[in-house]
Amino acid sequence: MRRKLVVGNWKMHGSLAQNESLLSAIKSGAVQLSRVDIAVCAPFPYLAQLKQELAASAVKWGAQDVHQLEKGAFTGEVSASMLADFGCTYVIVGHSERRNIYGETSRLVAEKFAAAQSAGLIPILCMGETLEQREGGETESVVAEQLDAVIALVGVQAFGKAVVAYEPVWAIGTGKTASQEQAQAVHAFIRQRVAGHDAHVAEGLVILYGGSVKAANAPALFAMADIDGGLIGGAALVAEEFLGICRAGQ
Ligand code: PGA
Repeated sequence: MRRKLVVGNWKMHGSLAQNESLLSAIKSGAVQLSRVDIAVCAPFPYLAQLKQELAASAVKWGAQDVHQLEKGAFTGEVSASMLADFGCTYVIVGHSERRNIYGETSRLVAEKFAAAQSAGLIPILCMGETLEQREGGETESVVAEQLDAVIALVGVQAFGKAVVAYEPVWAIGTGKTASQEQAQAVHAFIRQRVAGHDAHVAEGLVILYGGSVKAANAPALFAMADIDGGLIGGAALVAEEFLGICRAGQ
């Protein structure tokens, strides 16, 4: 039985003061939630705050993006070894906002995944189709291409120490959640595709759903066989919503 994982993706939101009250509520709520793994991914300037505030808590933390190379003349970028050095556990790679707004290709995302893992971080690899792609019947081929690019670069064994997040682009921040059946179908497809390479790795792989998850819809989503938790945007900024989602994973 896979443990559920709930990850808050704060995106470009927060301030020291806002984060402090959010983190103190999450920390105290998390004490009661020993059967679910919880993590928060914040903008770089707030990682020090997460490190300090969450030091004595079971809540893990990480970053939202990473550069694919180890070091060099890349003004403004942050390497995986820096994040690991600082104490991050997780890093999100290939979020649809990075793919769609910043033009990150599946190959680049795979390189970021590889860099994260070789530094000892756990990559949270995001994938998902746009509305147009879903309506065009391309959901599986889009997700397969995003997954296969990583398998081709690092091999399927790498998924033994990674998390996948299925996030249909049309459901992110729109209030439109995929139904639990729609999400389950894609999660099962992802797991089967990994199983085609290694059944054991597939069985242990944590596959999160993301896209307008809220405390109200989390129980139904998390009840599905292949949905192992959530990657939470908007609702991660509201302590009671986020903790409600975590409780659904308990
Ligand atoms: P949302 O975002 O929960 O606000 O839809 C999810 C995400 O982008 O990770």
